Amino acid sequence: MSAAKDRLVIFDTTLRDGEQSPGASMTKDEKVRIAKMLEKMRVDVIEAGFAIASKGDFEAVKAVAEAVKDSTVCSLARAVKGDIERAAEAIKPANRGRIHTFIATSPIHMKYKLQMQPEQVLDEAVKAVTLARNFTDDVEFSLEDASRSDFDFMCRIIEATIKAGAGTINLPDTVGYGEPGEYGRMFKRLIEAIPNADRAIFSTHCHNDLGLAVANSLSAVMHGARQVECTINGLGERAGNAALEEIVMAVRTRQDMMPVETGINAEHIVPTSRLVSSITGFPVQPNKAIVGANAFAHESGIHQDGILKHRETYEIMRAEDVGWNTNKLVLGKHSGRAAVKARFEALGIIFDNKDALDAAFMRFKDLADKKHEIFDEDLQALVSEMEPQDVVDHYQLTSMSLNTQTGTKPHATVLMSVDGEDFTAEAKGSGPVDATFKAIESVVNSGTSLKLYSVNAITQGTDSLGDVTVRLEKNGHIVNGVGADTDIVVASAKAYMHALNLLATEGGKSHPQHGGI
Ligand code: KIV
Ligand code: ZN
Repeated sequence: MSAAKDRLVIFDTTLRDGEQSPGASMTKDEKVRIAKMLEKMRVDVIEAGFAIASKGDFEAVKAVAEAVKDSTVCSLARAVKGDIERAAEAIKPANRGRIHTFIATSPIHMKYKLQMQPEQVLDEAVKAVTLARNFTDDVEFSLEDASRSDFDFMCRIIEATIKAGAGTINLPDTVGYGEPGEYGRMFKRLIEAIPNADRAIFSTHCHNDLGLAVANSLSAVMHGARQVECTINGLGERAGNAALEEIVMAVRTRQDMMPVETGINAEHIVPTSRLVSSITGFPVQPNKAIVGANAFAHESGIHQDGILKHRETYEIMRAEDVGWNTNKLVLGKHSGRAAVKARFEALGIIFDNKDALDAAFMRFKDLADKKHEIFDEDLQALVSEMEPQDVVDHYQLTSMSLNTQTGTKPHATVLMSVDGEDFTAEAKGSGPVDATFKAIESVVNSGTSLKLYSVNAITQGTDSLGDVTVRLEKNGHIVNGVGADTDIVVASAKAYMHALNLLATEGGKSHPQHGGI
């Protein structure tokens, strides 16, 4: 009989560290939608935000804690009383809630950022863990910048925080400086040296500044780590975090090297990747491992021939195991409400009430009038561009028309309503989208600056929906508006108004950076 394998805990931080990617802000409803997908994928721990960072972050953590039943819901907190109390409040509704508290332990961070002596840092860490344990039994402690910290100091602080009740000890490679051999050995040495190490799970959290986040995380797993912190599509601060899909599939594919098991249902990987990409406006590069459009595409004749003869000649994983087979024709003009609802549910999109389902069904019907074949990607785009319930519809596109002719400047006429009042605006621009945005601005005068404009064809064919992201910034606040339509200029106008509505609703949000204490 084979021995039971160790469980590798998958801790997803797309909603917290992922959101720290410049420009990747998400609304509360969007976070809940992603969290539900992560839960469906059977992620063990969902880090839903940094509750103290803003009212919006607090509300989002709380909403995720209310919505998610099966995964543990976690909030980040600096090793500060106020942070920990706020995190505790936010995770209260969770079936299982975790407080993740951290303080920097490297000489450079302690001296320049915290301006604290190591003994003070140790005291604050123990106090933080002790306080957090008053609110939940599940406390994680992170030694920020662990990969550049002194070994003996780490031994002392880890032993003390485990004694104070931390069940998970996270050793982040905060600045992406680690190298796989060295980072992995750090885990082994610490686990061997710390007398009470067996009372905690050791965790990795790697950033990708040198492109080594996944390699470093896997090396840590080979040296005793039993939790990996990661994000969908590798989203995250600067160059991002270790990509969840790569970690999960590497562990599954190389069981000979990493005989541990995750609880992840990998079939939800591709739909979740798409959802995160469409919500954040961060496209997935075609050659990205696992979730890139070309990840399973074999172009060379020799490879195709080999695959036809014996699939394993060139394929180490099956596309359908990570959810690629969901890209199939599912619905059309004649599909009924029940079929549409069932397909939405298969994609992890559950409507809380009949009105929301009715609205989605109406949009589906509109789309089916314009587009013959409705794919899963279309359904996802359709939902992404529906105004979430927490966004007020100040600005609405009523209709628009365009005049374009080779050799002349395009001219846009936009009919829109602002808080119920109708306006007509016209403008010329260097292109049809430019003219449309200028027309909208002539009414709105938003004072925003455009940070990103991207348009992607959601499916193949010229009747594809165009999925547009518009990123606007105002006074340091950033929002991502999304819009989808078979007409990409209409999609652009919708995305622009969605971004304006987001700014009007929440004033946007600035990103919680790793501040000092
Ligand atoms: O990168 C980092 O060190 C972090 C910690 C707060 C866990 O994100
Ligand atoms: Zn991080």
